[in-house]
Amino acid sequence: MDQLKRQAAARALEEVRDGMQLGLGTGSTAKHFIELLGERVRAGLKVIGVPTSEATRQDAMRCGVPLTTLDEIDHLDVTIDGADEIDPELNLIKGGGGALLREKIVAAASDRMIVIADDSKWVPTLGRFPLPVEVIPFGLGATRRAIEKAFAECGVSGQMAVRKARDGHVFVTDGGHWIVDAQLERIVDPPGLARALSTIPGVVEHGLFIGLASSAVLAGGEGIRVIERRKPKGD
Ligand code: A5P
Repeated sequence: MDQLKRQAAARALEEVRDGMQLGLGTGSTAKHFIELLGERVRAGLKVIGVPTSEATRQDAMRCGVPLTTLDEIDHLDVTIDGADEIDPELNLIKGGGGALLREKIVAAASDRMIVIADDSKWVPTLGRFPLPVEVIPFGLGATRRAIEKAFAECGVSGQMAVRKARDGHVFVTDGGHWIVDAQLERIVDPPGLARALSTIPGVVEHGLFIGLASSAVLAGGEGIRVIERRKPKGD
């Protein structure tokens, strides 16, 4: 599996050109990309990156990839990031690593987003992977009830649990928020659910990435598939 992730990362690296401003994703697949990018930078490639998490910032610094912020530059050429699930419309579930908020800000600021993954992430319908919803701790009970109402209106339901870290304490995101993971199994209308969740005041962001991915690079036993999104970015 790790070999496949690295192969997908290597294929995405072929899209990177001298002078590009890059969004750097989070997770084990994105980490392969950063390591391979670091090799190219050490060989003379000139790029600059915006990390989507503190973990990625550390990895990029260790690999010698120069970094900047979205306050210092006005756009990104391409973001390369992993995903937890990818459907045929290139809608995604992201946030298994807890970085969904910064990942979405960076992807939205990019001209293109390339998703890299092993092909186990490719699904006909999103939802088997628990949907992460990033929430403000204040008023969590009310926010959970509003999320349940949004689920019901969108024809889905399932157990919700506040994410715990390995040490048993509540997992806290880079932004200081909590994550509720919802086991929905089958999300029939991802864009509709994304819109409904976005209207809830205590929800900071959710892990549905709709209309953001431009292409997906999927590595499997049979080789690499590159799937291009048919609709323009944002649709
Ligand atoms: C991080 O918050 C996530 O969105 C990751 O991009 C996603 O979980 C994929 O991670 P892996 O590449 O480790 O599977």
